[in-house]
Amino acid sequence: MSLHKINPTKTKAWKKLIEQKDNLSTETLNSLFSKESNRLNYLSIKWDCFDVDFSKNILNEKTFNLLTELAEECKISDSIKMLFNGDEINETEERSVLHTELRNFKTSNSSIMADREKIKSFSSKIIDGTIKGYTGKKFTDVVNIGIGGSDLGPKMAIEALKFYKNSLNIHFISNVDGDHTEEVLKTLNPETTFFIVVSKTFTTQETLTNANLAKKWIEKKLDTKEIQNHFCAISTNIDAVKDFGINENYIFKMYDFVGGRFSMWGSVGLSISISIGYDNFKKFLIGAEKMDKHFKESPIEKNIPICLALIGIWNSNFLGSHTQGIIPYTEYLNLLPNYLQQSMMESNGKNIDRSGERINYSTGNIIWGGTGTNTQHAFFQLIHQGDKLIPCDFIGFKKSLHGNKDSHNKLMSNYVGQMQALMKGRSLNEIVSEMESKNMDEETINKNANFKVFDGNKPTTSILIDQLNPESLGMLISMYEHIVFTKGVIWNIFSFDQWGVELGKVLASKLLTEIESGEIGNHDHSTESHLKKLKNIS
Ligand code: F6P
Repeated sequence: MSLHKINPTKTKAWKKLIEQKDNLSTETLNSLFSKESNRLNYLSIKWDCFDVDFSKNILNEKTFNLLTELAEECKISDSIKMLFNGDEINETEERSVLHTELRNFKTSNSSIMADREKIKSFSSKIIDGTIKGYTGKKFTDVVNIGIGGSDLGPKMAIEALKFYKNSLNIHFISNVDGDHTEEVLKTLNPETTFFIVVSKTFTTQETLTNANLAKKWIEKKLDTKEIQNHFCAISTNIDAVKDFGINENYIFKMYDFVGGRFSMWGSVGLSISISIGYDNFKKFLIGAEKMDKHFKESPIEKNIPICLALIGIWNSNFLGSHTQGIIPYTEYLNLLPNYLQQSMMESNGKNIDRSGERINYSTGNIIWGGTGTNTQHAFFQLIHQGDKLIPCDFIGFKKSLHGNKDSHNKLMSNYVGQMQALMKGRSLNEIVSEMESKNMDEETINKNANFKVFDGNKPTTSILIDQLNPESLGMLISMYEHIVFTKGVIWNIFSFDQWGVELGKVLASKLLTEIESGEIGNHDHSTESHLKKLKNIS
């Protein structure tokens, strides 16, 4: 079965939602909160260690009900079944979409089960030193070479779970930027460094360039061609991996039915398992699997990923926001916005619908963000007083990991305080009264008061979790994956291909030939002048 091809703007619910937008035009978050004492009942969900509160979004009960009708009319339940059944819902690449199978502990796929065993045994052997380098030394450093989905997920998860890590240092090289590669390598001892080369296709320019640099570095520094103990590879392209010279026992599989950006639950997660140990990696998968079950089985109005996707659609398609802020209140999640950029923007940045027609409504948002409180001192000014509507996800934890209560109380008072400030704002009257209470003169008040006004009415969603651990991180990432899926279903687009990244690759490879040979072809004037400047040709 393939996903339904329903134009969301033609549904009854969409039309009613447009009316609903007009009906709500005079309401604000403050007025909605004073009218509806039951907001938290229908606009929040408590599940497992998650407390999700989306009541600070500009909608009322009628809007919420219409949004759930929209999900029904767009056949979300059917679509979820197709996803988990392994139907070929990635139509343009003729593939199933089964990243959820990588974390399904009841899977009947023996290959996936075998991969898990291999991850377990391989990571244990790297950690305990059974697998050693060419000179017989235990590895101290592991370098993951990959880009996009072969980099961002493991990098984010290892950073997020730093508290649980062992003594091995994990590094990441992704860009085809020789300076960065050299900067990483220069800190490492070749005798004790192990490389994981991750590439689904094993044709990616960046990854192959860096893998070759790493290979030469080991060969040169150890003065040997016997480098096999220093490398493993993760790919679908087993022949290319063998050609590169990887030991057959050190090859891990990827699958066509798992997109790069959804792949860290399988072999791509090897660096995670090496960093925190397989038992913790397993908990990470278990957390994701629990969220899968919640997504599969919960009714729409109590289903966290569906509700948050609907809120996102309301904010972008009806209230006109184009971006979404991701603000985790923990430094451990500082790479989450980068990771979600690929997950959400590569998946849902599409302008052609599932029938092949050009879309005339808004789809994938611009995703950006950073950690609170740092971002409060950076870009929050624009969210509070700028002219753009920027809904933000706030992600916080009830308990810290090292137990510093004083810092955590301060951190979380900012978490709650910012959301409250964004919602309530500060009126001119309040400001004038406050200035008067400080005995300021009328002239100063008239001159300055306007600048201090906060309109408020800025939407936020709070995802409050008990504590950051492998399991809750698994839940969080799986939640965002299902939000991506749900939005894609409703927007009537294909979320699991990424044709938009191809053109740049093709042009770069043609231009590389010209840069290398110095024979500059005919291009537009700007391109031509760039190429000439690079080659010092006047
Ligand atoms: O350029 C985009 C992309 O194809 C991503 O989707 C993918 O995660 C990344 O490149 C890396 O690809 P590969 O794992 O095949 O090297």
